[in-house]
Amino acid sequence: MAQAAAAQAGLEAAVVAASSKAGDTVADRTDNVISTRNLVRTYEVGEHLVKALRGVNLDVARGEFLSVTGPSGSGKSTFMHIVGCLAKPTSGQYFLDGEDVSQMSKNELAAVRNTKIGFVFQGFNLLSRTSALDNVELPLLYGGSTLKTADRHRRAKDMLAAVGLADRASHHPNQLSGGQQQRVAIARALVNEPSIILADEPTGNLDTRTSIEVMGLFQRLNMERGITVVLITHEHDIAEYGTRIVAFRDGLVVTDRPVTRRRAAADELAALPVEAEAV
Ligand SMILES: Nc1ncnc2c1ncn2[C@@H]1O[C@H](COP(=O)(O)OP(=O)(O)OP(=O)(O)O)[C@@H](O)[C@H]1O
Ligand SMILES: [Mg+2]
Repeated sequence: MAQAAAAQAGLEAAVVAASSKAGDTVADRTDNVISTRNLVRTYEVGEHLVKALRGVNLDVARGEFLSVTGPSGSGKSTFMHIVGCLAKPTSGQYFLDGEDVSQMSKNELAAVRNTKIGFVFQGFNLLSRTSALDNVELPLLYGGSTLKTADRHRRAKDMLAAVGLADRASHHPNQLSGGQQQRVAIARALVNEPSIILADEPTGNLDTRTSIEVMGLFQRLNMERGITVVLITHEHDIAEYGTRIVAFRDGLVVTDRPVTRRRAAADELAALPVEAEAV
């Protein structure tokens, strides 16, 4: 219990840090943090052209928690890669914080990505021979951060504490449970104080309870600090932790609806029987 409270307090500190930067851009920009217009992405495979996105128009307001669903191959990850500035559209426009990033060079995209976006993936994508702490610190090294070494360490430690893993800093990924690995990945996503978190099937490898815990972390970051969350999931019950659900099919958005009864992970966790060992 004391540990849970400490983790809770740590998260508060971390989300304050993460949100102070997110808040800076609110006043003088559009309310839509993500805005796409006729977004098209085609892949060339041999002689074939695969149309992964066929003209996606989507606006995501700052502070929304958007769940993206749709069958396998419908274009969800392709969309996330473009929104996350990991890839460019074949045509169409993408405005991030009101700025057209669809024509930016690779280096410009990398700079935008490092300052605004945190990623969380199904497979955690942690470096296996590196401690939890070093994994979390990595984006600070890549991101051209001006922090001194000691400050980088402190920031990474704070983020690990924020996700309840202060006591696992020196563990390598194979010495952590799946839920713990995903929490390290979330700490890593937060370390650059992003205004958007993009998560692609983050609970795909987790059991039910651990999934709820991870969704609880996302909900707190979203509700308490206004970080915009875009979550890709196949699971309809997971999608309902969000505020809005869009469904992709064949490279297009086919449905778009608000969540009328949003699930609350914290309440659900409180109602679950206590387990001997946390995740
Ligand atoms: N690098 C690539 N090269 C060629 N085709 C690709 C590439 N990445 C994706 N595709 C194709 O683009 C389409 C959309 O793929 P995408 O990965 O976006 O789907 P998805 O909705 O994320 O599916 P899943 O739920 O299985 O993760 C698919 O038909 C896929 O085969
Ligand atoms: Mg995918």
